[in-house]
Amino acid sequence: MSDNPLPESFLLGTSTSAYQIEGAWDQDGKGESVWDRFTHRPGVIKDGTDGDRACDHYRRVDEDVRLLDSLGVDAYRFSVSWPRVIPDGTGAVSAAGLSFYDRLVDRLCARGIEPFVTLFHWDTPQALEERGGWTNRAIAGWFAEYADRIARLLSDRVTHWITLNEPISVAGAGYLAGVHAPGRRSPIAAARAAHFQLLAHAHATDAIRAVTPSARIGIANSFAPVYPLRPRDSRVAARVSAVLNELFMDPLYFGSYPGAVGPLLGLLNRGVRSGDWDLINRPPDFVGVNHYSRYLAKRTIIPFVGVRFLRPADRINLTDIEWEIHPPGFRSILGWIRDRYGNPPVYITENGASFDEPVRDGRVDDIRRISYLHGYLTQMQAAIEDGSDIRGYFVWSFLDNFEWAYGFSQRFGLVHVDYDTLKRLPKESFRFYADVCRTRDPHRSFIAQADRTPTDRSRADSGRTDS
Ligand code: FCB
Repeated sequence: MSDNPLPESFLLGTSTSAYQIEGAWDQDGKGESVWDRFTHRPGVIKDGTDGDRACDHYRRVDEDVRLLDSLGVDAYRFSVSWPRVIPDGTGAVSAAGLSFYDRLVDRLCARGIEPFVTLFHWDTPQALEERGGWTNRAIAGWFAEYADRIARLLSDRVTHWITLNEPISVAGAGYLAGVHAPGRRSPIAAARAAHFQLLAHAHATDAIRAVTPSARIGIANSFAPVYPLRPRDSRVAARVSAVLNELFMDPLYFGSYPGAVGPLLGLLNRGVRSGDWDLINRPPDFVGVNHYSRYLAKRTIIPFVGVRFLRPADRINLTDIEWEIHPPGFRSILGWIRDRYGNPPVYITENGASFDEPVRDGRVDDIRRISYLHGYLTQMQAAIEDGSDIRGYFVWSFLDNFEWAYGFSQRFGLVHVDYDTLKRLPKESFRFYADVCRTRDPHRSFIAQADRTPTDRSRADSGRTDS
């Protein structure tokens, strides 16, 4: 446990993405995205919902920024919807779309909240998907055109840029497993989508830098330690770890795909053309770390991956989405990033937990989320003391929202959203995190929070009755 509070310069924030909160999917000239198309297909989303309305953030942006302000965060990470600003993905821009993000950034800055802008959080313009989407090499140029447009709009107020969010999820869930948009199931398409995302990251970096040389430009990758279930699973654990943790990092730092990915390597290299590595092999200004859980790997006969991720038998250790709560894995993966990539500047761009706690008497007592955040924050502090250059932390998520293939069945927010009335209600974790933002000392805030739990209140109440 760390006794040192987080430094004043350390940024505490929350994170969201456009499709998950905005709604207004077809308003003011917005183009269709692959997620609009995908969720309108029956049977693909667990609870049969879609993000057409989501949290209606598009219309409630003022209220949401006020809430962020009352949380006391230093920074807010959101994503721009590409088809909202360029409806066909390339060519004509939408004035209404640009103005929405322009106003959002103005409102944040007016309240002293630093915007962290993600350019791509999975909502590819459908018009581009029809031209091959991420399997078409031309997308690197389309993405750079879009990046240039947004940089010209926002760079007077935005310093930190994240090109892509979790390219592994787009390639793996979107193009290989087909459980995310665009719902394709092709290893060849997935390998191309991986490579062209890296190329797009490189071109977008150049586009932003050309507009604003002082920009800090990163990429948000998903990281998780992978442990073998049994000693004989160690080879497969190493392979899965390479796919998860190295595939979108080694190219930037070392200029090649990691050999440890095994049979995937041939497929990945098929998309590479001469000159690609010169563009891609440039370390970003910072690494965005999305982290939720650890994995246990076991050999099975599933093509390409050859593993199954096991959930621990003890369900107490799981969040509602069935991801294991394992805070020490956070410190360990942060140490691994530090050692393998030469201690790059890191922002934790996502970390959080899905728990659906009921609203009772106008409050949501999400003590399990508070405990999760406390555990992970203190492990992050330990990683800082180990020497990792970690500069900020963003809770996933600010609001309960549309959780991709799970629909509205998973609640990750510090703020409860009633999906019928769209009423926002800050949970107890909101108060906890507000305290962390104030004290910069997660452990102290945790102790203070414990004093406010219902258990303690009811104990105090029964004490009064007895006397
Ligand atoms: C991450 C995504 C984010 C959210 C969380 C729970 O993989 O980047 O949008 O869905 O998982």
